[in-house]
Amino acid sequence: MSRNHAWMQRDLAVVWHPCTQMKDHEQLPLIPIRRGEGVWLEDFDGKRYLDAVSSWWVNVFGHANPRINARIRGQLENLEHVMLAGFSHAPVIELSERLLQLAPPGLSRAFYADNGSSGIEVALKMSYHYWRNSGHAQKKRFVTLTNSYHGETVAAMSVGDVALFTDIYKPLLLDTLKVASPDCYLRPEGMDWAEHSRNMFSHMEQCLAEHHHEIAAVIVEPLIQGAGGMRMYHPVYLQLLREACTRYRVHLIHDEIAVGFGRTGTLFACEQAGITPDFLVLSKALTGGYLPMAAVLTTNELYQAFYDDYTTLRAFLHSHTYTGNPLACAAALATLDIFEQDGVIEANRALAAHMGQACAHLAEHPHVAEVRQTGMVLAIEMVQDKASKTPYPWQERRGMTVYQHALERGALLRPLGNVVYLLPPYVITPDQIDFLAEVATKGIDLATRKSASTRVDMGRYPGHRDPG
Ligand SMILES: Cc1ncc(COP(=O)(O)O)c(C=O)c1O
Repeated sequence: MSRNHAWMQRDLAVVWHPCTQMKDHEQLPLIPIRRGEGVWLEDFDGKRYLDAVSSWWVNVFGHANPRINARIRGQLENLEHVMLAGFSHAPVIELSERLLQLAPPGLSRAFYADNGSSGIEVALKMSYHYWRNSGHAQKKRFVTLTNSYHGETVAAMSVGDVALFTDIYKPLLLDTLKVASPDCYLRPEGMDWAEHSRNMFSHMEQCLAEHHHEIAAVIVEPLIQGAGGMRMYHPVYLQLLREACTRYRVHLIHDEIAVGFGRTGTLFACEQAGITPDFLVLSKALTGGYLPMAAVLTTNELYQAFYDDYTTLRAFLHSHTYTGNPLACAAALATLDIFEQDGVIEANRALAAHMGQACAHLAEHPHVAEVRQTGMVLAIEMVQDKASKTPYPWQERRGMTVYQHALERGALLRPLGNVVYLLPPYVITPDQIDFLAEVATKGIDLATRKSASTRVDMGRYPGHRDPG
């Protein structure tokens, strides 16, 4: 029996995996990873996989990065953890100072949580609580875009719209207002991204005009709706949204959990719109992909609404046990050092251009409706019919063929339904990008070669971060 197989059997006897129909593993091998190095993951039988999705979009500077490792080791010698209420430590102070310096002007406070969804919960609760403390308790609803994803906890699901994750739990969710996404995949033929994004803003304007008195905040994934299939839009939408949120006295929450830290071509996506949100939520690449942590950056105005004598009960009494964990802060500080010292954003421009060139030919593929790109994210939309953009029925799980082909070839590509995407660590080389493009092309050929479905009841395309 191979070592992989032995570990797989032990795993499947006891572990319940995230985002997985466990029955799939009756056919689909589970891959136990023994070690990682740079863009590579290596299993127990010695096979290597190029991590083209940065392990769920977290890893930016490679696995087992010596500089991040060293910083965590150093921190480990001094302090592994201390509660952040009543106590503090150097890494959390230094990290807060540096994040606020890097963030757009006007953000002056950092609150911490221990994963992305919890960071979203913090921003939603703070927003509502701010309005309550300010005498506007009726402002308690949240506006969200269709096809958005903000995490898996109950309030985070409430502001999400990826059916696969949320439909079942609908009876449990908050009553949110949904506005049509500026998703440029859906733009009329011949229209550019900026015009479509601008046009789509009319839906948001109308929603804010009608409901602003009861709205606490609008939450968006800036520029890229990740789990919804790497759907993209133009920064002009964010400019219009900032202006309208100010005009209607509604908070703007930027969920940059997936797109922050250089993914879209700038350190933060909001820079491309030249705006400052009221909340900037960061996670994933914040720690270089090492340790779970989220930071919620906000303004002095927000902070001051909670600052009062204890007995007024205006304080934000939200806490996660591991808030501001020193090891996670150390990983984040090492990550920021690398951004600062290595000219990463500049170097990524060349890598992003190479990714675009390496995948450009796929636009001509008879079953590809679009190859789209924003910075270090490139997505390829497989369709049944190119002219009408008719999707493959999600039940056919075409992306699974791409996933399995890539694994055989030594690449971890994990399509979102019919959307194959590259979201690699920034330490990838041009040759490795070429390899991924070739694997993706072959995988798409194989996945789309199978005859078209005769299914009529396609249901709503649920979208997912699973290789369906
Ligand atoms: C935009 C966005 N928000 C929130 C989350 C949730 O983060 P976490 O999985 O750490 O809870 C994700 C995760 O993929 C995400 O992409």
